Amino acid sequence: MAHMTTPVRKAVFPAAGLGTRFLPATKAQPKEMLVLVDKPVIQYGVEEAVESGVDNIVIVTGRGKNAIEDHFDANIELESFLEQRGKTQLLEEIRKITRLIQVAYVRQGEPLGLGHAVLVTKNLVNNEPFAVILGDDVIDARPPALKQMIDVYNRVDGPVLAVERVPMEDVSSYGIVAIDESAELGPGVHRIVDLVEKPKREDAPSNLAIIGRYILTPDIFPALEETARDGSGEIQLTDGLRRLLKTRPIYACEINGVRHDTGNKLGFLKAVVYFAMRRPDLAEPFRRYLESLNLNGH
Ligand code: UTP
Repeated sequence: MAHMTTPVRKAVFPAAGLGTRFLPATKAQPKEMLVLVDKPVIQYGVEEAVESGVDNIVIVTGRGKNAIEDHFDANIELESFLEQRGKTQLLEEIRKITRLIQVAYVRQGEPLGLGHAVLVTKNLVNNEPFAVILGDDVIDARPPALKQMIDVYNRVDGPVLAVERVPMEDVSSYGIVAIDESAELGPGVHRIVDLVEKPKREDAPSNLAIIGRYILTPDIFPALEETARDGSGEIQLTDGLRRLLKTRPIYACEINGVRHDTGNKLGFLKAVVYFAMRRPDLAEPFRRYLESLNLNGH
């Protein structure tokens, strides 16, 4: 009988970072709640998880993140208002997201890095494989990015990191993987032989950058517990994965889709235009507006 992998049922959303690249917007409001057209950034990731068959959501929050909890909670007052006014479509829209998911929250306390944020979910995740989704990487893909990764996970039965080829001048902003070029595991699927966090261009082993999606196995927790803090006092997930790589194979999966890094201002602005242009109700009038700006002129 074929070996069955343990299914991925939980998705962790680390959302306790300070979002300094987006100040002052993120002073009192989490960057995960910044809006792309009419939905907060984090909702795109939660919908991706649900569409990938994962509906147990664990959100890692910190100080000033109450808006995230309120967003995924029922709002009875608003619901009865919409009901009375007969606004059934809006009512369905706002109910859908709370009904589709089971959500749990855990506080990080201090923003000690992405690796530490994952570590604080240890007791909620328990002894099973899980996804990590960085909400500020919004990926438009069919099938959804996480589904593409779950399909790979089911074949390789080990941790899978989403990667994307980036221009060499950008490698120092990412975790970069070195891959085994001789092993062909399917289109865009690679076995990782090393990982480096934010290498200098000349030290980068490739231009395959880790983007904001991971499928991890529970042995990442002891690996993170043994991972030392970096120069800025943070526990990096990439460093934990590097340690884990000594004990088991880890895989990379190139995602077919369009990724927007909404955690920086330019990436966010691009994402707003991209998603507005994909909305049937907005695409035409918005296109006319953009054209009226005469962008080629001076
Ligand atoms: P980023 O590298 O984007 O950091 O974190 P950041 O602090 O949120 O933003 P900047 O760089 O200051 O602008 C990647 C992801 O990890 C989470 C963030 O919320 C984001 O989703 N994170 C980071 C935590 O949950 N805790 C941390 O201690 C650090």
